[in-house]
Amino acid sequence: MQHRAEKVVIVMVGLPARGKSFLARKVCRYLRWLGQDARIFNVGNYRRERIGQHKPASFFDPNNSEGTQARQKVAMEALEDALRWLKGDGQVAIYDATNSTHERRRLIEEHCHRDGLQVLFIESICYDAAIVENNIRETKLLSPDYAGVGMDEALVDFAQRIAHYAAAYEPLEDANQSFVKVIDGGRQVVVNRVDGPLRARVVALLMNTRLTRRTLWLTRHGESLYNQQGRLGGDSDLSPRGEDYARALAVQFAVPPVGLAVWTSTLRRSMQTGAALGLPATEWRVLDEIDAGTCDGMTYQEMARRMPDVYASRKADKFRFRFPQGESYLDVIHRVEPLVLEIERQTTPTLLIGHQAVLRTLYAYLVGDPVERCPHVSLPLHTLIELTPNAYGCDERRLPLTRPVDERHSMLPGAIVPD
Ligand code: SIN
Repeated sequence: MQHRAEKVVIVMVGLPARGKSFLARKVCRYLRWLGQDARIFNVGNYRRERIGQHKPASFFDPNNSEGTQARQKVAMEALEDALRWLKGDGQVAIYDATNSTHERRRLIEEHCHRDGLQVLFIESICYDAAIVENNIRETKLLSPDYAGVGMDEALVDFAQRIAHYAAAYEPLEDANQSFVKVIDGGRQVVVNRVDGPLRARVVALLMNTRLTRRTLWLTRHGESLYNQQGRLGGDSDLSPRGEDYARALAVQFAVPPVGLAVWTSTLRRSMQTGAALGLPATEWRVLDEIDAGTCDGMTYQEMARRMPDVYASRKADKFRFRFPQGESYLDVIHRVEPLVLEIERQTTPTLLIGHQAVLRTLYAYLVGDPVERCPHVSLPLHTLIELTPNAYGCDERRLPLTRPVDERHSMLPGAIVPD
């Protein structure tokens, strides 16, 4: 996505424990993965750094003028930092705070418009008390604000803090403002006057985001005949060792988790690996391996000999390098973007049987790695990667299911390792 001209301030809105920071992190990770320079400015962090972390609920009472002034000061500091950053290379500032009154939001808009910036409000509303309760237990009670404070005391204090905010809370309702309301973690999404391609992408993400946590497994297909020969691309069958891996994967999922979705690419090595499971699988063309264009079927050694310039430019910048008449990693990211939204929308566990480059891009998104580094992430053959979401990201486990394949030693003599 190259919308360099569109500079945006995303302003979070909502009572405490409504999952604002969760959404802010999700939006930030997504935009960064799409190549945007996005950054979160969290007012709670500014307050903790400048005023202190152990602030009692009374500090957040709108009738406490000292507390109100102090909070207003740090809120404006965070906003000014965000605006300063956007004057430089910054693209999207995510201003993460309660921003719970019309007055506060108008002030923010004034500052942003003065600097020629677009504003998108994202309000998180929870009618479902269970979601709020879960947010409190999973994040708020573990926050530095309550370090060393007993659970019961923290719960009482935090409930009072929420009540203070709720007393002054005014939901978004100005029809002239650009906003998205995310209700009960995406059960309902209300969109008002959202313009511009970047903001439209954010809305698409929010419309597909679900709170349900489910495990995702990523694996490359079993070793293929082309892997054995160190050849790029193609559509070869599994090697005998690749078939062993497919069987080992089937054993791993012999008792599949309820509702397991199996996704493969449309290439034989991926579909054959999936077929061993004996479960219905969905074939996704977008999961096909990076298109090696005119290099398809070559070994890297042949590429170095026959196309030295192409080989050298790939070495110089693997992320942006585009195979002649084929794709770059960046192209793959744009290709798989709809799949990312589908992953977000899934509420059942999913097993993705893909290919090295395409899985590297998805892996970067899922774990929040800097996207430029994705061509260098190690995703060995015959290793199942298990990603289980937690409140802040995901836990990762790597399970080598058969003897690991050393791709350098499984190829034609003298071949260069396909990386
Ligand atoms: C905080 O100080 O924890 C948050 C301030 C706010 O967003 O109102």
